[in-house]
Order: sequence, then C-alpha cells, then structure tokens
Amino acid sequence: MKKILMIAATSAFLVSGFAATEAVAGAEKKCKTCHNFTHKGKVGPGLLGVFGRKAGKSGFKKHSKALINADWTWDEAHLRKWICNSKKAVKEFTGNPKAKTKMPPQKMCGEKGDEIIAFLKQLK
Ligand code: HEC
Repeated sequence: MKKILMIAATSAFLVSGFAATEAVAGAEKKCKTCHNFTHKGKVGPGLLGVFGRKAGKSGFKKHSKALINADWTWDEAHLRKWICNSKKAVKEFTGNPKAKTKMPPQKMCGEKGDEIIAFLKQLK
C-alpha cells in the first residue's frame, strides 16, 4: 500500500513537472539546460521567484564564492547584465576584477534579453 502511494505521488510530480516544461518555448529554452524554473536547481539554481530575490539565495548548494557572498538583488538591471554576460557582470556586481561565476555567459543581450526578462518576471 505504501508503495502504491509513493508511485501515485511520484507520477503527480512528473505530471506537474511536464506541464511546466511545456510552457517553456521561447528564448528561455536556453536556460533550461541548467536551470529549473522551480525552486529545485539542477546544474544551476532554481529560478522560481528569482525576480526581486537576493542573489545566491535559492538554496542551491554549489554556488561560486561570488554568489555565496553576493549582496545585490536580482532586479531588471542586474538580470539584464547577467544573462548578457555573467562573466563580466559578476566582476561588476562584486566590485572584484577577479570574481568568477560558474554560469557561462549566455549572450542574451538586447531584444533576446527582453524575452528572458519577461519570462523571469512571471516565474512566481
Ligand atoms: C551552462 C549552464 C547554465 C546556463 C545555460 C544558464 N545558467 Fe544561470 N546559472 C548557472 C550556474 C552554475 C549558476 C550559479 C552561478 C554561481 O554560483 O556562480 C547560475 C546562476 C544564475 C542566476 C543567479 C541565481 C540566484 O539565485 O542568485 C540567475 C538569475 C541565472 N543563472 C539566470 C539564467 C538565465 C536567465 C539563463 C538563460 C538565459 C541561464 N541562467 C542560463 C548555470 C547556467
């Protein structure tokens, strides 16, 4: 009986996970390689509720030192720079020219960035 319940719970989880995947069709597909759009991260931190949240606070266990000690909040200006060039952005945000991030630059700048920002804003 216990086993049956577990299977039921697992499949309910899979179904809701699938629905979230289906909604992802635009430029944000690129992010999905590493990020979940729920709180649970995979290669990267979960992005649910990232807009307006302090950096490095998703509960992700493998952050770089720069993100662990981050003191900025993910507003539009920070996110734009981050998704365009995270490597450059992390140096600017920390004020440390040697700071590094584990997220490779995504080159989602300008108009491509608009689409991503709109997507991230509605991840609540
Ligand atoms: C190759 C894997 C990879 C891809 C692709 C990727 N990221 Fe990341 N991302 C990471 C990793 C790893 C981190 C953690 C960085 C660190 O701790 O230095 C991160 C961190 C972040 C953070 C900071 C989260 C927090 O809670 O502080 C945001 C925001 C973010 N990524 C957004 C995006 C968006 C939007 C995209 C798509 C345009 C994207 N990422 C694509 C791997 C990736």
